[in-house]
Amino acid sequence: MAHTGSVASIPMDELRALVNKEVHQVMIENSKADIMSGTSNHKYPPIKKLPEGQALRILVTGGSGFVGSHLVDRLMTAGHHVIVIDNMFTGRQRNIIQWLGHPNFQLIIHDVIEPIMLEVDQIYHLACPASPPHYQYNPIKTIKTSTEGTLNMLGLAKRVQARMLLTSTSEVYGDPEVHPQKETYWGNVNPIGPRACYDEGKRVAETMMYAYESQANVEVRVARIFNTFGPRMHPNDGRVVSNFIIQALQGKDITIYGNGLQTRSFQYVDDLVEGLIRLMNGPYSLPVNLGNPDEYTVKDFATLIKGLTNSNSTIKMLPATKDDPRQRKPDITLAKERINWQPRVPVREGLTKTIEYFRKELEESGEIVPTGPNAARPQQHKSKGVFKDKSDSRKKH
Ligand SMILES: NC(=O)c1ccc[n+]([C@@H]2O[C@H](COP(=O)([O-])OP(=O)(O)OC[C@H]3O[C@@H](n4cnc5c(N)ncnc54)[C@H](O)[C@@H]3O)[C@@H](O)[C@H]2O)c1
Repeated sequence: MAHTGSVASIPMDELRALVNKEVHQVMIENSKADIMSGTSNHKYPPIKKLPEGQALRILVTGGSGFVGSHLVDRLMTAGHHVIVIDNMFTGRQRNIIQWLGHPNFQLIIHDVIEPIMLEVDQIYHLACPASPPHYQYNPIKTIKTSTEGTLNMLGLAKRVQARMLLTSTSEVYGDPEVHPQKETYWGNVNPIGPRACYDEGKRVAETMMYAYESQANVEVRVARIFNTFGPRMHPNDGRVVSNFIIQALQGKDITIYGNGLQTRSFQYVDDLVEGLIRLMNGPYSLPVNLGNPDEYTVKDFATLIKGLTNSNSTIKMLPATKDDPRQRKPDITLAKERINWQPRVPVREGLTKTIEYFRKELEESGEIVPTGPNAARPQQHKSKGVFKDKSDSRKKH
């Protein structure tokens, strides 16, 4: 199941053919196993059987990424029919391998910046790299993904009268002057800084959602997601949670960019998925923050991870990165009132599961070199047993 080379350097047609070949192979293997065991789908996780007419056709763009794959698990388990479209930029096939070949599931290798015709009832539009090194690797592509990609999905939603949810971000608040951040805050974003391709892309994507709502009667939902963590995070995504855990597990220095007094709040992925499903299926259509208000300084968070991993790593401060927000904490009053949602999983509990996941990733790859704060190409595949840091690579595809 291993490719060689990086996915970012493979032309789309070739990538599509390669993944389709692998998907086909997995399907053959699954059906062979079914025939041998005399069962029809013993390999798949159990799913609910919904009464006639209650199973929806649901499109998840970016469904083989970190958050998308957990959402797919929930929707499939609930008995719906799920179509994933993904260009595999940061997505990993292993995230959705449990569903390949299932009659209710379809993976389409497709880039959202190209239009697509499908018949669906709901669209969860997640496609977009989320980690700063990855979205900064090719900023023009990131902008196209948020703008052209969102327009294409809105066009589809309009045509088939599907309800559409956009996964926006707390980054729309930029480096906030208001704390904690409420949905009514308009934000403080540098429009020409290194994060702008992502922040401004998401801001205009929100604008597009409401333009289609008022002008074309598309039913829209907008989730403003705060830092989320959990199993299936990309080992090279260069985010605080993944880097700290990987460094701690390997006994390497835990590196903090800045003085460590900047704050973040972290939510476990299962809570986020619950919030997305509630928002999609509820009546409220304006933006809603989804995040855990439990706030940590980055330094305290590093200490917590060091303790949970029983690591002897040293915590080391490095120069701050440009436009790194000083504080982030969601006000989730609206989510509580409008969709009856609040996070349930304590950060420590979520971290324990995430540490287990990274322990297994490390066992498989031997070594993971964490990605630094600079633009970096996502590393999809192990190379000589090491997930390498490509943070100095500026080569574009
Ligand atoms: N994880 C977080 O903390 C967080 C925070 C705020 C917002 N979000 C948003 O949630 C969504 C999912 O984030 P994630 O953490 O799962 O990121 P991820 O990088 O793991 O997943 C993104 C998925 O989108 C796919 N993709 C990217 N560009 C595409 C394109 N042009 N066409 C088709 N597929 C494309 C990737 O291959 C990947 O599978 C994103 O929209 C992100 O902006 C995430």
